[in-house]
Amino acid sequence: MQADARLQVLIEADVGQGRCGVADADACLRLLDAISGCDRLAFAGLQAYQGGVQHERSHAARRDGAARAAERAAVFVLAIEHAGQACPIVTGGGTGSAEFDLHSGVYTEVQPGSYVFMDADYGSNDWSGALRFEHSLFIAAGVMSRARPGRVVVDAGLKSVAVDSGLPRVFGREGLVYLQANDEHGIVSVDAGTAAPELADMLMLVPGHCDPTLNLYDELIGFRDGVVEAVWPVAARGMSR
Ligand SMILES: Cc1ncc(COP(=O)(O)O)c(C=O)c1O
Repeated sequence: MQADARLQVLIEADVGQGRCGVADADACLRLLDAISGCDRLAFAGLQAYQGGVQHERSHAARRDGAARAAERAAVFVLAIEHAGQACPIVTGGGTGSAEFDLHSGVYTEVQPGSYVFMDADYGSNDWSGALRFEHSLFIAAGVMSRARPGRVVVDAGLKSVAVDSGLPRVFGREGLVYLQANDEHGIVSVDAGTAAPELADMLMLVPGHCDPTLNLYDELIGFRDGVVEAVWPVAARGMSR
């Protein structure tokens, strides 16, 4: 970096999540003042993400929550503009709210991420609106035991998949339900009338939560129509903070 570089910085505003960011316009303007007093910093705009809205199941609840977040973001923008500063970037929104954020007139960019993979938790949202995404992230789990009737055991448990947002779902196989995750084992029930998978069969699991699952893996295997087309290293592998 050049010694005379100026870093572009965003102020994070709390637009309803209660996690990080300045809570109100006064706190925002104090921070803006502090930034203006630093030669090497240039104010570039607002970071205004409301994660709590994203997983509201109903489309209407997400629409209303996204509108409240956008209104709060607009209050911060107005305060900054009244203080005589431009606010070139207003960034926020996620997979669950992007369809509303895009038309809010407040954000200059949206920041959805999970839509790329569409985990099982996101799959439970009501997607009756304008945007809809498909699952694309799967854990290939091998059947390692069928010792008991009505269930099989796969080699993907707590070390393979984050379960904070629910257990993984078995993709494309009716009658198979992932019931329980042990350290290295996953218990899958087999409904009456459903043929139990064979030993070494591979079940494709859709993780409940993609973000904390992905960094458990060294590589992503890209495949289409059953043919491997790419192997991508996971740069965030093992990064726990
Ligand atoms: C600050 C921030 N922006 C964007 C995202 C992406 O949101 P989503 O996973 O809903 O697409 C996240 C997700 O955790 C986030 O924390």
